[in-house]
Formats: sequence, structure tokens, C-alpha cells
Amino acid sequence: MKGIILAGGTGSRLYPLTLVASKQLQPVYDKPMVYYPLTTLIEGGIREFCLISTPHDLPRFQQLLGDGSRLGVSIDYREQTKPSGIAQAFLIAESFIAQDPVTLILGDNIFYGGDAFQRAFSEFHAGASIFAYHVQNPERYGVVEFDEHGWALSIQEKPLEPKSNFAVPGLYLYDREVVAVAKALKPSGRGELEITDLNMEYLKRGQLKVFRLNRGFTWLDAGTSTSLHDASAYVQTIEQ
Ligand code: TTP
Repeated sequence: MKGIILAGGTGSRLYPLTLVASKQLQPVYDKPMVYYPLTTLIEGGIREFCLISTPHDLPRFQQLLGDGSRLGVSIDYREQTKPSGIAQAFLIAESFIAQDPVTLILGDNIFYGGDAFQRAFSEFHAGASIFAYHVQNPERYGVVEFDEHGWALSIQEKPLEPKSNFAVPGLYLYDREVVAVAKALKPSGRGELEITDLNMEYLKRGQLKVFRLNRGFTWLDAGTSTSLHDASAYVQTIEQ
């Protein structure tokens, strides 16, 4: 399994911080944000990485992480010239993915606790796997409904009437078909290749598996000033 870290975007909710350095380079307590998703995948056993960011920020990630050898991994870098959607990552990373299964993690998602990912990585063989995290305000997220065997029944992006309280965090696993599936996607109303549309295609094929992240597992999305501050406080508490 290879790993893609998607660390582009505009980070407009963190302006003016993100006018000079991207969101994923901002500090979360004592480390740049990107260290956390990178660590999540390294803990899951992944060693080959592709980091995608904007032409402006990519050199800074290279300066920070180099070729990865210092951490015992390899890191390739690719540019996303415009933030045209999360699913575009699979088109940008096509030559990196080659014939292998791949996991994509969003550079502003911080996970802590449990071995749910390690299990999902080692059990993975075909189709797609996503995760489900219980939230109070599902209408702000991609929402998944699933059966008792963990097969997805429906997936909706920011629904007005959510079918469940389970949000889909920014970590996804796909087989090598993902590049072909991404190539067939049409941009959404907001002009992006949507990750939910890609997952929908796997759902239609009956190949979308859902792993529930249980109580005691923490998922933080550090995209706003408040959540960035909360993430720093959380890490500080854990570390101390
Ligand atoms: P968002 O938080 O949805 O977008 P953003 O980072 O541009 O922030 P804002 O809404 O404040 O302007 O993106 C989620 C993650 O995915 C984040 O880590 C950035 C990344 N991303 C890309 O790298 N490229 C893209 O085209 C998109 C849509 C997101």
C-alpha cells in the first residue's frame, strides 16, 4: 500500500495565517500539522509517499521533509496547480500509484488512538474502504450509512437531512482501479472532482467497505482557528 498526503487547498478559513504558509505547515502544538497525517500512515506500515501541494508551498514541504530518508520512508512531490478537488489527487499521482493500492489522507486531519487503520490496511485487498466517525452535526460532513457487516448503504455530501450520524474522515483506501474511476468523474457544481462522487462509484459497484472508529478514537480536522487551537491543546495534553 502506498500513501498520498494531500496538502494543498487555499486554507481561506485560516487567513491571514495561510497567506504566507499553507495550513498543513502551521504548528499543532510543537510540530507542523503535516507530521500528524504522515505519522498516522507510517504507523499503518506505509513507507512510500507522494505529497501533493500548491506550487507555492511544495518547496517548503520539500525543505521540511526532504526525500523522507531521515524518517525511513520515501517521499515524492507533485504539484496541484489549482484546488480542483480531493479526487484530483489520483490523477496527479497516477504514475506514483502505478499498479498498487493506495491510501489518501488529508493533510489537515489528525487522528489519535486505536489500531483501526492498521487493521484496515492489513485486511485491504480490493475495492475501497472508508471510516465512520460518530458526530453530533453530520450535515457539515460527508455522511455514510452502513449495514451490520460494514458495507456502505448510502453516502451523501453535507446532506440537509443526514441518514446517519456518521461522518467520513479524511482517510480513504482504494485499489488500483482508483485512477480510472477518478478519470471518469465529472466536476461538481462547485467545479471540483469530489471524493464523495468517487466513493459513490465504489458504492454502486458494491465495493465500499466502512470501518467504524469507536469511542476513544479522536479525529480532529484543523481547518479553522478554533479547531487548530483545540488540536494544539489536545496534543499538548496527550504529550504531557
Ligand atoms: P478544505 O478544508 O475543504 O479546503 P481548504 O484547505 O482549501 O480550506 P478553506 O475551506 O478554509 O479554504 O480541504 C480539505 C483538505 O484537502 C485540506 O487539507 C486541503 C486539501 N485539498 C487540496 O489539497 N486540494 C483540493 O483541491 C482540495 C479541495 C482540498
